[in-house]
Amino acid sequence: MGDATIEVPRLEQDYFDDPHSIHALMREQAAATQVVLQRGLKVWLVTRYEEARIALADPRFRKDIRDERLIDRHFVGDPADRVQFNDTLAHHMLNMDPPDHTRLRKLVTKAFTARRVEQLRPRVQQITDELLDAMDGKSEVELLDALAFPLPITVICEMLDVSMDDREQFREWSNTLVGGTDPIATRDAGAAMAEYLAKLVEHKRAHPGDDIFSALVHASDEDDQLNNAELIAMAFLLLIAGHETTVNLIGNGTYHLLRNPDQLAALRADRSLLPNAIEEFLRLEGPVNQATVRYTAEEVELGGTVIPAEELVFVALSSANRDPNRFPDADKLDITRPAGGHLAFGHGVHYCLGAPLARMEGEIAIGSLLDRFDLSLAADPDTLRWREGTLIRGLYSLPVNLAPRGAR
Ligand code: HEM
Repeated sequence: MGDATIEVPRLEQDYFDDPHSIHALMREQAAATQVVLQRGLKVWLVTRYEEARIALADPRFRKDIRDERLIDRHFVGDPADRVQFNDTLAHHMLNMDPPDHTRLRKLVTKAFTARRVEQLRPRVQQITDELLDAMDGKSEVELLDALAFPLPITVICEMLDVSMDDREQFREWSNTLVGGTDPIATRDAGAAMAEYLAKLVEHKRAHPGDDIFSALVHASDEDDQLNNAELIAMAFLLLIAGHETTVNLIGNGTYHLLRNPDQLAALRADRSLLPNAIEEFLRLEGPVNQATVRYTAEEVELGGTVIPAEELVFVALSSANRDPNRFPDADKLDITRPAGGHLAFGHGVHYCLGAPLARMEGEIAIGSLLDRFDLSLAADPDTLRWREGTLIRGLYSLPVNLAPRGAR
């Protein structure tokens, strides 16, 4: 690259500990900044709100990286660290542009309608109640393990009819693939997951049930149908999204609520604030830190910054959501603010398909938790660790003190 002499900062531990301060500095200087991600990829990070919205929706920012050489060209790390993602699993709609994307999304939307999600409400409540029952009588729990992980995982596995016995294995593969720091482990987890999903597709063809996966296998749009490879990649996308995101809406939301007792009290006093509180949690500390990779199909000028053609671009959603030009007093939790317009679910054609489900799960989990228990953090907030990785923003653990409501 011609710019080898320019020092491009690498995102390291201080970024994972506190991305927000680093984003604030970047936002002040430019709409987009070049950085090296922890795996050694040199990319542009879009940090301002207006430009983030543009980059998410403008077709000059493309998603269908078909040529691995584009990645190789921007890889500046140790070749031994270069993570090769499983081809079968990567062939899903989040890695496609229209018209391929449009076709796949249309087929899956049919099996994933808002009405179908709403029908799940009683079951989501029931799973939540069972998890809260198991917390009864305890004075301290690790909330991610006790509630935030098992709820969305159980829901998505039931929707796709992944058997109970396989879920632990799935969570392991999913964590390895999203963490993606160890090339060998990532390759092995990818291969194992692809094989597992191929068998599941075969099974669903032969024995269709009442689940979304069966509906997808049999979904057809006039003459169109998902082929085997598309089904495997689609199932992978839904399962990964169901495993890695909503957990951190519940975790990060509860964390911020417990750090802001005035906001907790306001929510307890007026429960009609809950839907807006969920939007504010998504804005302030959404589960997706940086959106998935895009590249420039041609040179693009973005808020005064020129990004050449064929550069990799990541949109820092969590930075856009704290841009003070869009959200006044942006670092503050305020569950009464108009938080709508945040970019936590993305924007444009790839806007999150699971947003209604995630919102429903978040509301039921946090609402029911507050109904049942008085809560406080059981650790000094400064000792809590955030996951290393640029995609997902979430805690490793969230210990909380519990008491039955009204006992304190
Ligand atoms: C709070 C939880 C969630 C958050 C914050 C979230 C966030 C996002 C974001 C930011 C994108 C767009 C990424 C990009 O443009 O690079 C996305 C896409 C997507 N999400 Fe979610 N998600 C959540 C939960 C879920 C759930 C529960 C599911 C499904 C079970 C799901 C399924 C999807 C799918 C299929 C896409 C790709 C859509 C497309 O390419 O058209 N998400 N999500």
